[in-house]
Amino acid sequence: MDGVHVTVLLEEVAAACTDLTSGWVVDGTVGQGGHAEAILSRTPPAVRLMGFDRDPQALEASSLRLAAFGDRFVPIHRGYDSMREVLDEAGVAVVDRVCLDLGLSTTQLDSDRGFSFAGDQPLDMRFDPTEGLTAAERLHEISESELANVLFLFGEVPASRRLAHRMKEEARANRMETTADLVRVCREVLGPMVRKMPSPVLPAQALRILVNGEFERLDTFLASIPSILAPGGRVAVISFHSGEDRRVKQGFKALATTKEFRLPQRKPIGPTEEEQRRNRRSRAAHLRILERPTEES
Ligand SMILES: C[S@@+](CC[C@H](N)C(=O)[O-])C[C@H]1O[C@@H](n2cnc3c(N)ncnc32)[C@H](O)[C@@H]1O
Repeated sequence: MDGVHVTVLLEEVAAACTDLTSGWVVDGTVGQGGHAEAILSRTPPAVRLMGFDRDPQALEASSLRLAAFGDRFVPIHRGYDSMREVLDEAGVAVVDRVCLDLGLSTTQLDSDRGFSFAGDQPLDMRFDPTEGLTAAERLHEISESELANVLFLFGEVPASRRLAHRMKEEARANRMETTADLVRVCREVLGPMVRKMPSPVLPAQALRILVNGEFERLDTFLASIPSILAPGGRVAVISFHSGEDRRVKQGFKALATTKEFRLPQRKPIGPTEEEQRRNRRSRAAHLRILERPTEES
């Protein structure tokens, strides 16, 4: 399958990231290059963009899409949580705009890398298939109580202790190796639906967050903002998960108490009704913006 990823909040992110005449923009989750393309096409040639992604396939796709921009686009196969380190390696002191569009793309969801339940795929779920343990491997090594916490905290999964118990039993018998195994166990313990969604959706989300260290990476990035963002700079983050949005909200709020930063608006920006109609996935999107004023402003 080849799902086409529809970029969410394109105009809103472009508005936050294109009022520049020169300098560096970082797209920390460049994916299929939708936001990056809008930013590069609406800024002059002296604006360059580093596109980070942990997924080599996403970087290949965005590099192809953005080839016409030549060396204005710099693809980087690293996590956005290593941004300070990468900027140091590139000799870049600070950047002017950063955007993140968290989570996974439709292309990843529709791949055969264990993110969806179509067919029977190996339970992998790594954004970066070149490093770390797969979801199936994590299920062998994690303790039952830790797994229950992961299901509850990252997925708000009901009956998380019962589900963790069954998942560990099945993992010990080598029957938690594929997406079909996950679907079977979730249906057995939780029934067919949970909160109007097929029952494997929330457990799968929790496993994906665990496998990719998504919350830790976001926390690392938020803590690094003061060392990355230039005066006059702006950070724009789209999240889809309440746990992520809470982190962004609290991280931005803490920075904004220092007077070095400010929140142009308190409430997150959501999709217009028109975008919600066009793209169902956009409905859960929350965009938050943080600014670092210049000394004169
Ligand atoms: C929702 S997609 C981004 C889509 C992109 N904005 C577009 O318009 O095409 C999220 C991307 O973030 C990547 N990703 C997730 N966690 C990451 C991390 N810590 N560092 C870098 N990329 C990450 C995923 O591999 C995925 O390609």
